[in-house]
Amino acid sequence: MDLPFDGGISRYYREDAPKDVRAAVADAGKSDILNPAFPYDKRWDKADYEDALENLQIELVRMQSWAKETGQRVAIVFEGRDAAGKGGTIKRIRENLNPRNTKVVALSKPTETEADQWYFQRYIAHLPAKGEITIFDRSWYNRGVVEHVFGFCTPDQRERWFTQTPEFEHMLVDEGITLIKIWLNVGRATQLKRFLDREKDPLKQWKLSWIDVEGLGKWDAYTDAIGETLTRTDTTPAPWTVVRSDDKRRARVNVIRAILTQLDYTNKDPKALGAVDSKIVGGIDHWHA
Ligand code: ADP
Ligand code: AMP
Ligand code: MLT
Repeated sequence: MDLPFDGGISRYYREDAPKDVRAAVADAGKSDILNPAFPYDKRWDKADYEDALENLQIELVRMQSWAKETGQRVAIVFEGRDAAGKGGTIKRIRENLNPRNTKVVALSKPTETEADQWYFQRYIAHLPAKGEITIFDRSWYNRGVVEHVFGFCTPDQRERWFTQTPEFEHMLVDEGITLIKIWLNVGRATQLKRFLDREKDPLKQWKLSWIDVEGLGKWDAYTDAIGETLTRTDTTPAPWTVVRSDDKRRARVNVIRAILTQLDYTNKDPKALGAVDSKIVGGIDHWHA
């Protein structure tokens, strides 16, 4: 594997990062939150986070039983820039759930055969059956963002995808699948800090790819592609839930709350569930570069 252990990330940080981003990262020892647009100065208290998460994991187990008993099909899409926290959030969701009912789908880049198929085809194969919850760690939204930014698809293919995506999702919902689309929003300095941490940590280096390194200089291209994608795929049957994720603790807890709030499971305990923080969770108007 061609992983960028040669210091691709730290070189970018030293040599190419915009001044304000570098200054924010350099300040990381002093401030918890590196994104000036984030609504809180400090990350959430650890003990409060752990309590809330435990309660929510119990609620998730209830939701899972309900899904199984009543034959629900639940598909949850996780999207966001690299290092937005998709993997860590998904890990907390699935931690105490039965891997037979709750599946995580993280597909690699399309094979040659897949590239010759209808774009949605390989994702369809993983859609939930009755009683199942399927979590997509990245999804068909690759075409709107990373494939566009890196030129892995043609402009025509992307336009067709923009036409088909709302129709495709409408069909899923019409079929009785509950579709929840989560967009994790992360600031530029936060992303760079997380990449630097990954570069140093032998347990996290696997999360880095050449796309991450090359993507550093493409922040604005990503911003444009994300803005367009969110706007053109936010529909009444399948709206986006946007979550600010510069504080991992608030992000994880609020993602789970946002998911559970959208599901009408039995034995819901509103106290354990808690309220979604509207400074953290919103619709697409909540998104910012
Ligand atoms: P991740 O963030 O999922 O760990 P990367 O940042 O390396 O992985 O890649 C982002 C996404 O781009 C992944 O879903 C990957 O499958 C996709 N991708 C990478 N190369 C290609 C390609 N040549 N064509 C289409 N998609 C690709
Ligand atoms: P720690 O995991 O506490 O050793 O922190 C390692 C780095 O991750 C530090 O730079 C922290 O600022 C950052 N960090 C830790 N926890 C969070 C969090 N909840 N949200 C955002 N950044 C965090
Ligand atoms: C994560 O932090 O888990 C990310 O969102 C996954 C990635 O870096 O691609």
